[in-house]
Amino acid sequence: MTVAHAELPDFPATWRHRHLLDLESLTAEEITTLLDWSEHMAVATDFGRRKIPVLQGKTIANVFFENSTRTRNSFSLAARRLGADTVEFASSGSSVSKGETFIDTAKTIEAMGVHAVVVRHSAPGTAFLLAGHLNCSVLNAGDGPHEHPTQGLLDILTIRQCRGKIEGLTVALVGDIAHSRTARSNIWGLKKLGAHVIVCGPATLVSRQWEKFGVEVSHNLDEILPRCDVLNLLRIQFERQSTRPFPSVHEYALLYAMTAERMRRSKPDILIMAPGPINRGVEVTPEVADGPHSVILKQVTNGIFVRMAALRLLLGVSEVNGSCLA
Ligand code: NCD
Repeated sequence: MTVAHAELPDFPATWRHRHLLDLESLTAEEITTLLDWSEHMAVATDFGRRKIPVLQGKTIANVFFENSTRTRNSFSLAARRLGADTVEFASSGSSVSKGETFIDTAKTIEAMGVHAVVVRHSAPGTAFLLAGHLNCSVLNAGDGPHEHPTQGLLDILTIRQCRGKIEGLTVALVGDIAHSRTARSNIWGLKKLGAHVIVCGPATLVSRQWEKFGVEVSHNLDEILPRCDVLNLLRIQFERQSTRPFPSVHEYALLYAMTAERMRRSKPDILIMAPGPINRGVEVTPEVADGPHSVILKQVTNGIFVRMAALRLLLGVSEVNGSCLA
């Protein structure tokens, strides 16, 4: 069943972006607009039960050069729930193996009449690069270890829904901060909205440099645990590491895995989050991942609303507000 988009509020007059490349360059007001519009999308679709065809006639291309389960399917569903068509590109099986460059591949897909490209790539800066070469909107679905803005937004939205606010909360990002794009998008977004952010993990994966940006740095989860309102448990990104950052996964789990025993030493209403994929027994044990404090699947559900909001705002800006920024 589809409904008219009268159920959505008026397009925000202050919105000026046609690309979503990072959270670092967005203001607190712009991040809040994206979060508020994610809530509007949830309500207007009756929490995913119906479509709102505000992007009918538009085509969104998913251009993924790295593996993905959540992000790719979530962007596809978001586009389709807005009435848009989707094109699914995967680098394996494409002409990339015949030597076509990244830019030529993207331009080829754009020439098919695409209005937005959602791009994931192992190289930091690829979404920025595309935004400079294409005329359509570009959404960053993860550029190497740099940023993953929609993941940051869906994490922050989930916290806001569960706690009613972001300001004043203590949120710890635990794990491979050095190689995690989720970490960077969360840090910028949460800081702008007034949270106290802690990055926690082995010294080989958590740099003291973060202190310069007003982020607390810890190498001891047990020490910070009693103060945390939220733990976001990040995967060790072995695929981005050239040397092993710790002697064994077992040792990492002893120091940093969220376990039932650590839950007993946490705040009674602590939120347990993870962007997924989770490695059970490494960053989180099954009883915690599947337990009552876990909002891991709520994050996945929210991902669709966040991506619907991002697509609507980015694709609507030139039609509705005329001028737009990069
Ligand atoms: C993350 C990613 O790809 O950056 N996953 C995701 O998008 N949900 C995190 C990860 O791979 O660990």
